[in-house]
Amino acid sequence: MQPITTKLVKWYDAHHRILPWRISPSERSQGKIADPYRIWLSEIMLQQTTVEAVKPYFNAFTKKWPTVARLAAASQDDVLRAWAGLGYYSRARNLKKCADIVSNLYDGRFPSETPDLKALPGIGDYTAAAIASIAFDRPVAVVDGNVERVITRLYAITTPLPSAKPAIRAKMQALTPSERPGDFAQAMMDLGAGICTPKRPACIICPVNDNCQALKTGEPELFPVKAPK
Ligand code: ADE
Repeated sequence: MQPITTKLVKWYDAHHRILPWRISPSERSQGKIADPYRIWLSEIMLQQTTVEAVKPYFNAFTKKWPTVARLAAASQDDVLRAWAGLGYYSRARNLKKCADIVSNLYDGRFPSETPDLKALPGIGDYTAAAIASIAFDRPVAVVDGNVERVITRLYAITTPLPSAKPAIRAKMQALTPSERPGDFAQAMMDLGAGICTPKRPACIICPVNDNCQALKTGEPELFPVKAPK
């Protein structure tokens, strides 16, 4: 493992956020495995909604529909009613379509390969990678806005977005370990959400501040670099 990866996984063990869809590193070490249904549902809800806003909806959904088969058995209207307030209602329609396909075509088991996941309604590049990584521990690069910020800072990538995306993905892939790739991806997300923030990042308590090229420039906030208007 690269030094950055080792530090981040250790930091995650000590400082990970406790979220209703997560299994903790200690639960995982005791053999508990993530439920792909819960990871999928959380990732769809998190696509355009904050973690805090998602929590109560996630809890209500999983209480009402504890499995993908139960969600598939619900009516579209019931699902839309439970979604009310989250916005972007195409997500709820795709949620139901996806539940129907997984329930009927895949016998209630989510596929674990990124291309199969991407073929499902509502699942794009990011969500397919997140499910493969977090639910199935596949070493795929999971790149969201948080990860883009962390990577462009670690490597002081001066190419503006979106042109920098291929380079960011390559760096993230190179950092992704074959052991515990899902926890590594979530470590990057938590670092981006809580420490490597867009404004006033908390570099002083960052577990990888020694490795950060942007911090060495003295102005980590300037990354990711904005394209000139
Ligand atoms: N945002 C999107 N997916 C997330 C996850 N698994 N944990 C925290 N924040 C997220």
